[in-house]
Amino acid sequence: MSKVTVVGAGNVGATVANVLAHKDIVNEIVLLDIVGDLARGKALDSWQQAPIDYYSTKISGTSDYKDTKNSDIVVITAGIPRKPGMSRDDLISTNANIVVSVVKSIMEHSKNPIIIVVSNPLDVMTYAAFKAAGLPANKVFGMAGVLDTARYRAFLATELSVSPKDIQAVLMGGHGDTMVPLPRYTTVAGIPVTEMVAKAKLDAIVERTKSGGGELVKLMGTSAWYAPECSCCSNG
Ligand code: LAC
Repeated sequence: MSKVTVVGAGNVGATVANVLAHKDIVNEIVLLDIVGDLARGKALDSWQQAPIDYYSTKISGTSDYKDTKNSDIVVITAGIPRKPGMSRDDLISTNANIVVSVVKSIMEHSKNPIIIVVSNPLDVMTYAAFKAAGLPANKVFGMAGVLDTARYRAFLATELSVSPKDIQAVLMGGHGDTMVPLPRYTTVAGIPVTEMVAKAKLDAIVERTKSGGGELVKLMGTSAWYAPECSCCSNG
């Protein structure tokens, strides 16, 4: 029996709920948004895919935290996304208030959930969620280690014309300028990437990874959602 709540029915939240439902690995998904009809609409639309794509995950939308009762996992996507020209840190005061109030409302209805934070600036929001939840540190995660490593691996896969599956990489630091992709711990099917890509090219890939989210904001006018979604609920 597992229940997942996704807070925020914007691009990332709705995609998390929809893709997770397709995987058929949890019993129930609740999509919550203060704009209740948006969450209800997106959840209903997802549920109507179930007979076609053949899954049983129950999915519903709400604006009432009572419906999140006894969640095992809570994904927090609430808050405003970046617009072109903004840094993630520009979102701090707006999103900190939102994330803390979301976590407090969640904790009124679920005792011991795992919390996965997506809202930006990610590292600060994850810490704010951890403090507000009062849960042990191993129950509160930010999703960006997975996301930033995926972007790094995707850029390398393009450069080398290989499958991203064959690239193993380590990336440390925060979700932003302090991110540190580590080429010396990066291999392509076991071969050190430093033996396959020239240093200047590798440096450029590292820099592109660091501004990978910003590149997408420039292209789309808002922040990304497909890879952020996978970073929360991939079983790969
Ligand atoms: C990004 C946002 C989610 O990097 O921070 O796309």
